[in-house]
Amino acid sequence: MQKSILITGCSSGVGLSAAQILHKRGYRVFATARKESDVKKLSALGLESAQLDVNNSHSIHTVLNHILAKTGGTLDALFNNAGFGQTGAVEDLTRDLIREQFETNVFGPMELVMRVLPIMRKQGHGRIIQNTSILGIVAMPYYGAYNASKFALEGFSNTLRQELRDTSIFVSIMAPGPIKTQFRGNALTIYRNTVPQDSSVHHEQYKNLENYFSTAETKHPPMTVTPDVAVKQLIHALESQRPKAHYYIGIPANLFAWMRRLLPDGALDWVLYKIANH
Ligand SMILES: NC(=O)c1ccc[n+]([C@@H]2O[C@H](COP(=O)([O-])OP(=O)(O)OC[C@H]3O[C@@H](n4cnc5c(N)ncnc54)[C@H](OP(=O)(O)O)[C@@H]3O)[C@@H](O)[C@H]2O)c1
Repeated sequence: MQKSILITGCSSGVGLSAAQILHKRGYRVFATARKESDVKKLSALGLESAQLDVNNSHSIHTVLNHILAKTGGTLDALFNNAGFGQTGAVEDLTRDLIREQFETNVFGPMELVMRVLPIMRKQGHGRIIQNTSILGIVAMPYYGAYNASKFALEGFSNTLRQELRDTSIFVSIMAPGPIKTQFRGNALTIYRNTVPQDSSVHHEQYKNLENYFSTAETKHPPMTVTPDVAVKQLIHALESQRPKAHYYIGIPANLFAWMRRLLPDGALDWVLYKIANH
């Protein structure tokens, strides 16, 4: 039986790579993107695509109806992948910026989960994979909104896994470190458009941050992985009899997961502060 999967955020990066690799692997992939131009691009690649803006409940409702009509009412897996990074010191953010970050990184994925659960319960099985971040486990300075959103998704997903313990619906959390995608370039644009850099008490630190993000196209942090590395773990979460609760993607993510367990808060803070201000 061909397995079906809904993937959010397939215009680029991990979502695009996951859609293409799983399609080749024989999955019926519903590769969604929020822009119509990206839906056309995905269709031209031979993928079944549909428009989905995770910030919009109507869009979620429409896309699920569309998928269920095509599959006869089933959906084997959901990969909540769409997300973006709002950077900036906490005191330079606004409630609206934080709300926007949560709409995409938290409320959208939560609503999708709530909508697919009745389908998965009815069919008696399912896989839900949440693309969070290692920054949903350790917190770095200047990523307050993003950290908070990914910590929230981490908490939600851990609860969900326990509530589904007696079912055949499995929940896995993917927590990547740096991956070579549009993520940092997009984060730089958002930061430039939203954070008052020059008037901020953090303007010196922002120069480092800007420098770090500006090199996004040419230079990536050490041990940055390509999206296919994340997809390999996604396949394990989809196909293993015993999918893991957490998949840490890349060496930095594994390292930070260990540090979180071993180091006292002060020592971990020092390491993360040094990385953010290098
Ligand atoms: N790259 C990294 O270093 C890294 C590390 C840890 C975790 N992650 C996580 O990995 C996931 C995928 O990111 P990526 O690295 O592949 O970055 P990416 O290339 O920027 O892809 C992000 C995707 O999310 C989509 N998206 C954003 N807002 C959306 C919305 N409201 N509705 C639907 N789609 C939306 C984007 O669509 P548009 O093109 O329309 O903006 C894009 O398709 C994210 O959740 C991110 O937080 C990434």
